[in-house]
Amino acid sequence: MILVTGATGHVGGELIRRLAAAGEPVRAMTRRPGEARLPAGVAAVYGDAADPASLDAAFAGTSGAFLMSAQAVGTAPEPTHDLALAAAAARAGLRRVVKLSTLDGGTGDDPIARWQTTAEAAVTDPARGFAWTLLRPGRFMSNALH
Ligand SMILES: NC(=O)c1ccc[n+]([C@@H]2O[C@H](COP(=O)([O-])OP(=O)(O)OC[C@H]3O[C@@H](n4cnc5c(N)ncnc54)[C@H](OP(=O)(O)O)[C@@H]3O)[C@@H](O)[C@H]2O)c1
Repeated sequence: MILVTGATGHVGGELIRRLAAAGEPVRAMTRRPGEARLPAGVAAVYGDAADPASLDAAFAGTSGAFLMSAQAVGTAPEPTHDLALAAAAARAGLRRVVKLSTLDGGTGDDPIARWQTTAEAAVTDPARGFAWTLLRPGRFMSNALH
């Protein structure tokens, strides 16, 4: 079972559609499971990255996850949502994690890059034992629409 966070958003929503179409077992995490519009057969599960205790039930029984955070950079001293998601994945014993980062995560020195560098490290930490993939996209077209 693959857990997709941000499942009601632009990236997670598209990922859910593609995984479901490919016949992969997938679970959608959202703070409002009752309102989520998902492909047939995809279950929604409650999870709030601002409430780490809520995440264990969301991750239970999954072997892989797509992790993203919508926490605005600089609203906390560190990316607490990313850190909580990675910790929950570790507690649940996940083997494979894909994390949505940013273009210069891991290398850049601006606030967004530094924020994402910390978030990436929570996933790539060898002690976690994940097989990991970092996605480092550039600017989204949805920014212009927003
Ligand atoms: N914009 C860019 O140019 C750009 C560039 C590189 C990387 N990125 C990354 O992409 C992310 C945005 O992706 P997107 O466009 O797919 O996002 P989006 O469409 O804005 O969707 C945000 C998702 O985050 C979920 N969410 C919000 N707060 C949450 C919380 N406290 N706990 C759990 N889930 C929560 C929402 O789910 P519910 O409301 O259903 O709970 C929703 O599914 C950015 O945050 C950044 O990390 C963006």
